Amino acid sequence: MSGTEKFNVVGVNILGQNGIDVDELVGALVHNASVEFTAYYYFTSLRTHCTGMEGEGVKGIIEDARLEDLSHFESCIERIHQLGGSLPADASDFVKMSGCEFLQLPPDPTDLRAILEKCLKAEQGAIVNWDKVCRMTHGKDPTTYDIAKDILAEEIEHESWFLELLYGRPSGHMRRRYSGERPHTRKHSRALDM
Ligand SMILES: [Fe+2]
Ligand SMILES: [Fe+2]
Repeated sequence: MSGTEKFNVVGVNILGQNGIDVDELVGALVHNASVEFTAYYYFTSLRTHCTGMEGEGVKGIIEDARLEDLSHFESCIERIHQLGGSLPADASDFVKMSGCEFLQLPPDPTDLRAILEKCLKAEQGAIVNWDKVCRMTHGKDPTTYDIAKDILAEEIEHESWFLELLYGRPSGHMRRRYSGERPHTRKHSRALDM
């Protein structure tokens, strides 16, 4: 999986010397990329079902989180390939590996609270996923760590937005200047720049 059998890839070899299991790291990155990609899809669907006056107020928040999930997916791609990995050839395999079926529309598709609960669960799962990569790479792989800690910072913000919407727990949230601003991952997902 790491591709080191064919080429002398010093950028990968040093990670082994630093104590990283590169195959395990690539596996975690591909899995996390699949979660981000699938969450982007489901957030698109959930957002369109935020109806009525209350729903209108929530749409903007879900839009900010949705576009940042796309940024998180994009942020993984280059690093996966640098490490010798790749994404599955079949997109349906990729989506299935995410385990994000729980993000399908609730039984009442416009139940705003149920939609927000799903959004919160997705953010909390993403925090666990990126914290894991941070712990795998801290002090050993500064390049991957830089990406993982920036994505983690945005996921923590997203969690706080949905906690505020659901339970009134203040997030200290300053709205994004525009959707897709992605203050922490912007430098890792330049393909999304307008
Ligand atoms: Fe994300
Ligand atoms: Fe998120």
